[in-house]
Amino acid sequence: MLKIDKLNFSYGDLKVLWEIDLEVNQGEIVTVVGANGAGKSTTLKNISRLVKPNSGSMTFNGVDLTRLESHQVVEQGVVQVPEGRKIFPEMTVMENLRMGSYIPSARKEREKNMALVFTLFPRLKEREKQLGGTMSGGEQQMLAIGRGLMANPKLLLLDEPSLGLSPLFVKNIFDIIIEINRQGVTILLVEQNVYQSLRIANRAYVLETGRVVLTGTGTDLLNNDHIKKAFLGM
Ligand SMILES: Nc1ncnc2c1ncn2[C@@H]1O[C@H](COP(=O)(O)OP(=O)(O)O)[C@@H](O)[C@H]1O
Ligand SMILES: [Mg+2]
Repeated sequence: MLKIDKLNFSYGDLKVLWEIDLEVNQGEIVTVVGANGAGKSTTLKNISRLVKPNSGSMTFNGVDLTRLESHQVVEQGVVQVPEGRKIFPEMTVMENLRMGSYIPSARKEREKNMALVFTLFPRLKEREKQLGGTMSGGEQQMLAIGRGLMANPKLLLLDEPSLGLSPLFVKNIFDIIIEINRQGVTILLVEQNVYQSLRIANRAYVLETGRVVLTGTGTDLLNNDHIKKAFLGM
């Protein structure tokens, strides 16, 4: 579904991604794990076309993403939920969700997607008139994911959905990612929570200072000695 070949990217003179190869097949949960600063968010920003690579190819269902603007990437069905939620604090839950369905293809599916979001997140239904900015961190993350689903994604890009959440919410968010995947949405998840994300991933990539240093199934990597030492404190 998504195929990235030899992606190189720099912020000005600072090179942060080196020859990244990454694939996501339809129906998978794929995770990119790595420490703070490894280049996880930058990888997603390249896919979403928020930044432009120096070189390399990226295709989605055969469409060359490097020729598209950000909004056209969304129209292809690739939807990013950004790091730090970035919800609209002065808008209600309902208004935030509606903002997610602004593209024509999503507008037609608005009622269906709203129903899915409220099934996944009953809390959002209860709070539909509450201002986004007054919700808790965990609720804002639900809202950010809900808003992403309103864009009718084929591939959902999730940037550190568990960051800053209480342990209970962390478990909840990973369960919800599994459920979204069951509903037919392919997932590319980037996370510092290596254990939880490997646990739910079909396949994973380990990013260290902008390079893919390991790849394999989630189970393989959970049992990998380097991963155990470097990320799992074992
Ligand atoms: N807008 C930016 N301008 C310059 N450097 C940046 C910018 N955003 C991120 N970086 C740098 O790029 C590297 C990768 O960052 P990032 O992709 O955010 O890592 P991660 O998401 O894995 O924590 C880091 O060294 C970071 O400091
Ligand atoms: Mg990041």
